[in-house]
Amino acid sequence: MIGFFDSGFGGLIVLKGVRKKLPDYSYIYLGDNDRAPYGSRCKEEIFWYTAEGVEELFRRGAKLVVLACNTSSAVALRRLQREWLPETYPDKKVLGIFCPTVEYLADLKVRNVGIFATEATVSSEAYIREIGKVSLETLVVQQACPLLVPLIESGKLDRLEITVKNYADGLLSKNKKIEAVILGCTHYATIENIFRRHIPESIKIISQEDVVAKSLENYLARHEEVESMLKRGGDCEFLTTGNSAHI
Ligand code: DGL
Repeated sequence: MIGFFDSGFGGLIVLKGVRKKLPDYSYIYLGDNDRAPYGSRCKEEIFWYTAEGVEELFRRGAKLVVLACNTSSAVALRRLQREWLPETYPDKKVLGIFCPTVEYLADLKVRNVGIFATEATVSSEAYIREIGKVSLETLVVQQACPLLVPLIESGKLDRLEITVKNYADGLLSKNKKIEAVILGCTHYATIENIFRRHIPESIKIISQEDVVAKSLENYLARHEEVESMLKRGGDCEFLTTGNSAHI
């Protein structure tokens, strides 16, 4: 099985994109809705909550887990891959969603980029670092959007329009030459239409729905040893740490 982990609902959009492209595999999704949002938590909490989520997915049969969460990818991925995985689960894999996003961006050859993300992702500066590795000339400005995940998770959708507008105005005022923006939190991809209303048409919006699917397909083609372990069947199981009656 391929596991998907997010702090809540956001990763569902990534899973949707992956299932559309790779419909034959079996999938399992875990949203840590009970402890979302991760974006305002400290690094240590984000690391251990992510490790617990990944471990649960391994326990239920996942051989490969995609962190469909920028915050977990920014704060926990490296440590999971370098320290935790080799010691505890040497035969399993964990992938993040930064590399696919940054590779996609690099192909666009833009020089001025804006990032919308959680506070933890913004302060990790992971996007600035990763983009810097592929393109030294790209100027990156960031906008933390701490109100968005709580609004999306609690279903308070009427307040999203004005909140997104304020964040979009904030980001665009930091660099008037922005050519592309990354929705650097999977929750934001679920409201891409609202972002589109407040960002000029000339600016490309990069959402991770399709970006991750393409990159995972590529990864599996290059890693036969992982691909051959994966269960097929096209089924998908959804798990939450929250109260499923409220979801
Ligand atoms: N979907 C997570 C991300 O991509 C949201 C993090 C949060 O829970 O604040 O960063």
